[in-house]
Amino acid sequence: MGSLQAIRYSRGKLEVLDQLRLPHEHHYDEIRTAEEAFDCIKSMRVRGAPAIAIVAALAHAVEIANGACTATDPEEIIAHIDSRLDYLKGSRPTAVDLSNAINVLKVAVRAAQIEELAHPEAREAIFNAYLRAAENILEKDLENNTSIGAHGAAWLQQQYAAGPDRKISVLTHCNTGSLATSGHGTALGIIRTLFQDGLLEHAYCTETRPYNQGSRLTSFELVFEGIPSTLITDSMAAALFNLHRERMNIGAVIVGADRVVRNGDTANKIGTYQLAVIAKHHGVKFVVAAPTTSIDLETETGAGIHIEERKKEELTQISGAVVNPDGSIDLSRTERVAIADQRIDVWNPAFDVTPHELIDAIVTEKGTVVKGANGQFDFSKVMPERW
Ligand code: MRU
Repeated sequence: MGSLQAIRYSRGKLEVLDQLRLPHEHHYDEIRTAEEAFDCIKSMRVRGAPAIAIVAALAHAVEIANGACTATDPEEIIAHIDSRLDYLKGSRPTAVDLSNAINVLKVAVRAAQIEELAHPEAREAIFNAYLRAAENILEKDLENNTSIGAHGAAWLQQQYAAGPDRKISVLTHCNTGSLATSGHGTALGIIRTLFQDGLLEHAYCTETRPYNQGSRLTSFELVFEGIPSTLITDSMAAALFNLHRERMNIGAVIVGADRVVRNGDTANKIGTYQLAVIAKHHGVKFVVAAPTTSIDLETETGAGIHIEERKKEELTQISGAVVNPDGSIDLSRTERVAIADQRIDVWNPAFDVTPHELIDAIVTEKGTVVKGANGQFDFSKVMPERW
């Protein structure tokens, strides 16, 4: 088994680990066009807010590096880039990282156009600006995640006076690890850092119905890293806190974000909100780990977030590898199995919104944001330019 790398990239070539085949198969798909990237994102072969943005940005980088844009006039080149990016933006609507990345890319090519307009090599300058900006999104994400891990672990250590003799346990939801990012992860990045620093007693992860990112992906990452961990179903969290919070020293629920808006309301995988309610009831800290690329200061409250709804088969069917009579897994045979009457009506929102009142801290790569005396989050320290 190779390393846990969701995205493999070198200029002109992009490969994406097919997360629908995990944990049974480690298979990379080559992405050559924006259409292939759109399909890969929409079908959730790649998912997780930062990873979606990176794959979209790099898919068009691959097109550019391989000469797919034949326009020569700078205006036409910019129009071409815009239309490819706008098309990719429609792949998944809730995570803001994709729109934020697209804005960054559009600004980068316009800056190159203005600088180079009078020169015959304007065409190359625009393409190079795009490639550099797209590749920077990939590199910056890894840096961001390492910083989020450090800030989040430090904040928790401070809250609980954690140390080698007083380790803490945490619960996480969905998958926010290497598979959802360019590496290390956000919420799972904090858990990794706690573990590396000798501060983690135990990590619990939820199954994360209906798409099972927790059982398929997070438990795979935790086992892969040798982190002491236990898988529970989503409906077991309250019982876990009730029965084991004190014995296991469960100090925090740590989750990622698809979009944090101006007042701190946070959209994340469906089931996050109920965990925040349960955490509040049991006096467990609720921590959101989000790079500033997941923050949307233009939207005032969670009511303004568009929540993606997905197809009913995600609830009524499940896929898995066939288990042989001796207990081994037959990797050559994966099957979709019906687990509900296929005629039942289904409601399948992919995300929910956790109100800021239930959130104790939002950990970004630039530091941890907590609420002021007025009960409001203040992002001015981490995003002064957009606050
Ligand atoms: O539907 P998904 O799997 O893309 O949802 C992912 C999440 O909700 C993650 O928590 C979020 O994107 C943060 S990933 C670092």
